[in-house]
This record gives sequence, structure tokens and C-alpha cells, in this order.
Amino acid sequence: MSSLAPCLGSQSKRARTLISVRDLSRDEVETLLDRAAFFRSGDHTGLFPDRSVATMFFENSTRTRCSFERAAQRLGAQVLTFESSSSSTSKGESLVDTAQTIDALGVNAIIVRHKSVGAPGLIDRSVRAPVINAGEGSRAHPSQALLDALTIRDRLGGIEGLRIAIVGDVLHSRVARSNVALLMALGARVVLVGPRSLVPSRLAEALGVPCAHDLQEGLGWDGGVDVVYVLRIQLERMSSGFVTTRGAYARGFGVTPAALASAAASRVRLVMHPGPMNRGVEIDPRVLLDDRCAVGDQVANGAPVRMALLERAFTGGSGP
Ligand code: NCD
Repeated sequence: MSSLAPCLGSQSKRARTLISVRDLSRDEVETLLDRAAFFRSGDHTGLFPDRSVATMFFENSTRTRCSFERAAQRLGAQVLTFESSSSSTSKGESLVDTAQTIDALGVNAIIVRHKSVGAPGLIDRSVRAPVINAGEGSRAHPSQALLDALTIRDRLGGIEGLRIAIVGDVLHSRVARSNVALLMALGARVVLVGPRSLVPSRLAEALGVPCAHDLQEGLGWDGGVDVVYVLRIQLERMSSGFVTTRGAYARGFGVTPAALASAAASRVRLVMHPGPMNRGVEIDPRVLLDDRCAVGDQVANGAPVRMALLERAFTGGSGP
């Protein structure tokens, strides 16, 4: 074995890295969700006291970063937090040089969030430690899709055969892209719903799913959807012109108690949102009080799912 052995262990790095949900087989997804449920079920803490994890977030984050850090702490691993604003990248150091510096400290996993598509993969190819993608531009957010899948499985008993409407700013959403891929791989059918500017037909075609440009039509798709997954309007990623005003968007596509009480929505059993939410824009705050709303479950599932992902990064899936 080479000097890389302490980082690579006995399993290949590919089995430890997670850049896209497409890297996972259906069996691996089920195993990760089962492992997350196991971590959630009791006091399974401190299993990896000799491991360390670095978080490299080049974009703001609350839920994702805190839950990765929480997950690492609960596994007993050390956390090294890289602060991009106070780091050498602000002195012009390249992304790869920065990542290799962190890697050289001997961490066992690197968690990366970056606004540029390709950045987590580039880092992964440049370092010894496995990389977990914690948000990549508008392309991918695999750990979010996994915690969403766990939430749906818990609440509705399974994912196979469900009809799921993803509503809102699909164009700018990495959450939507990872969810479409994962939910379809798990046997759900997905419809994208939103204004043409945020749900272009050619994007739906590229993702291999239908779209609706009217909320009621989307909720009633194919006899009625089971799940409404609401996306944040990503004002920070928008050049002008995608939405006229927040009010106009809310009137057309905001998920409100009235929209959920309509005949088209009669099959809806679950309402989700990845957060952070623009209350009163894409989701009415009263919907958060509805029993069908699983936003709190989604947040609570963040740490156990990320414990399962860290375990996979440490062991390649073979357990402690
Ligand atoms: C999302 C993200 O950052 O991609 N949030 C999250 O991770 N829970 C969604 C968003 O920013 O709208």
C-alpha cells in the first residue's frame, strides 16, 4: 500500500466520494437511508473518534453546514472549519491549492460547497480524502435529496409510484436537479411546476420530466400529486426579468392554504421545502402549520443522513 493508505483505506475512493446522486446505486441509497434511520433511532454516537472532517463552504449555508458539523460531532470525529472569507483564497490562492492544503493536514473527508459547477469534482480529483458535495452551483445537492427521500419514505411509507410536483425556481435549483434524479431512480414520477421563465420546457425535457406552467394544473397532474416540493425563489442567482415581482409570483405560484384546499390538490399528503424559505412568497406561513407539512422533519433528518454519508466516506460503506 502507498503512503496514501491512511486516507484511502481498503475501499476505493469512488465508494466514499459523493459528487452526484447518480454515483449511488438504488441499493446504496436504500442502505444510506436505513443507516440514517439507525443513527436517528438511538444513541449511536462516538463511532469514529479517530477521524476528522473538513468543511469548505465557499457559499453561505445554515442547515447544510451545521448539520454536517453536527453529524461529524455525533460520530465523535474532529471538525476542521475552513473559512473562505478569511482564507488564502481571498489572497488569490487557487481552489485546488487551498483544497490540497486542507488535504495535507490529513483529514478523512472534505465537505465542499461552491457556486461553480464542477468545483467539488475538481477538488475530488486533486485530493486524497473523499469529497462530499454539499451544494454545487445550480447542478447538484445530493445530501439534500437523500434527506428529502428519507422524509418522504418515513411519512408515506415509500417512494415507488408516488407523483411529486416540484414547484418554483427549478432553473436555479440544485435541489430540484438532485431530487428529480433521485426520486426517479427510486420509482417516483415528477412534474415541474412554475412560470416559463423558471421552468423552461427545454429544461424539463433535458431532465426527462413533464412540466406545467399553472399551479392548479401541476397539483392535479395525472389525477393529482402526492407530494408538493416547494423551492425557494433564488433572488441571489437571478439576473433581472425572471419574476416580475414577489407579489406576482406569490399570486401565481405561491403554495397557500387555498391552493392546497382546491380540488386539484385533493391527493396531496405532503408539503416540503428545503429552506431557507421566503415566507409569503413561494410558501404561505400558514402552510407550515398544516399536518402535511414536513419542513421540520427535513431539517431533523439532515444530521442523521449526513452521519450515514460520513460513515460511507470513512469506511466505503462497510461500517465502523
Ligand atoms: C438549498 C441550497 O443551498 O441549495 N438550501 C439547503 O441546502 N437547505 C436551497 C436554497 O438555497 O434555496
